[in-house]
Amino acid sequence: MGTTRRVIQDEYLPLDAKRLALGTRLPFDIYSEENGTNRQLFSKGIVFESEAMQFLLSRGVDTVYVRSHEADALNAYLNRNTTSSTRKSFRDDPLEFRNATFFKEKYYQIDSSTLEPGTKIDFNLYFLQGIEYFHLMKASEEEPATVDAAVLEGERDIVIRRVDMPRYRKYLSRANASESAAKQSVMLKESSKIAFRELFEKPDNKDKVIEVAGNVENIISKISDDSSILRAMFSIRNNAFYVYTHSINVAVLSLALGSASGMTKDALYKLGIGAMFHDVGMSAISPEIIEKQGRLSSQEFAIYKAHVTEGEKILRMNPSIPEESIEAVLQHHEKLSGRGYPNRLKGDSIKPFGRIIAIADCFDSLITTCAYRPAYSPFDALSIIARDKDYDNSYLRYFVIMLGKGGKTEQR
Ligand SMILES: [Fe+2]
Repeated sequence: MGTTRRVIQDEYLPLDAKRLALGTRLPFDIYSEENGTNRQLFSKGIVFESEAMQFLLSRGVDTVYVRSHEADALNAYLNRNTTSSTRKSFRDDPLEFRNATFFKEKYYQIDSSTLEPGTKIDFNLYFLQGIEYFHLMKASEEEPATVDAAVLEGERDIVIRRVDMPRYRKYLSRANASESAAKQSVMLKESSKIAFRELFEKPDNKDKVIEVAGNVENIISKISDDSSILRAMFSIRNNAFYVYTHSINVAVLSLALGSASGMTKDALYKLGIGAMFHDVGMSAISPEIIEKQGRLSSQEFAIYKAHVTEGEKILRMNPSIPEESIEAVLQHHEKLSGRGYPNRLKGDSIKPFGRIIAIADCFDSLITTCAYRPAYSPFDALSIIARDKDYDNSYLRYFVIMLGKGGKTEQR
């Protein structure tokens, strides 16, 4: 027995199983040791998914083996730089770009904190790395699976297939009075996000506009009931830009900022609608421009800027949207110096709602990873905004205090 063991160690390199990261492609074969002999468990090239991890856990395997001639691949795997792969850009490759846009359309990003370990799900979970999606957990109506805490670890965007959105919605509706206020708020935020995503596909759907507006009222009551709710609602750290996630984040941040500066409920409602719909006009802009990772040409930028007036058009079709909210949408890219768009407004002609949404919009964009730069930390994002003279200083002060108090964003 002792001899066989030595043979295994001579030809195979031991590897702590915990160093196998979910979602990584294995560049070597993996073996386990059983009764003194080696047995191949996983083949080179497979993606290490949660089933594989569960398999190891269920057998109590904490050390696996890699053949010694694959030492270089093992070292490269252990020293891999995950950031460089998440920064992979498709800006110069039209085919990859088309694929990435196509897949982004087919998937929907969820907030992983809504997934409770131990609960059953009946939809697959995937995650995005660079421009590729990997399986994280397999589940279906026929074969539901239990959410595993290990799946939720790590800094990644968890996505589901768009066709599974109704099932996810059903999963969210399990939230009941026994859940914590923070959890309920995240569920509410997720439901609002789904409604917004649906609206984005059919911006002329008036019922959806009303549903999303109703969600704004719910968010206001959650935030004013308990200021620590902001922390729960604004906990997502984005590895990619999704207009629906961004819109909800900007709404939550703007409402918290409005509330911190003492606005009335009526004003908060109008501000929240403006913030929630600030980029709704993006639905009229081609994804090639919205998703473009490099610098936009001046022609492309002119088209991009039209999202502001397109948003106004969409909202004007709904008489229930307050005029002040529409004005806020129109002003969210104006700058105090007069360098903004679409109307190059200056100083006082930019109203408080526009000023608040501009801060929230810029902050949420900076803490989101782009293909050409990693996400800034909340602290760095604030310093960048503070150095820019285009943002309202007094609202910025409230914003800093607010994020420092209840609204610390989590470094996940
Ligand atoms: Fe915008």
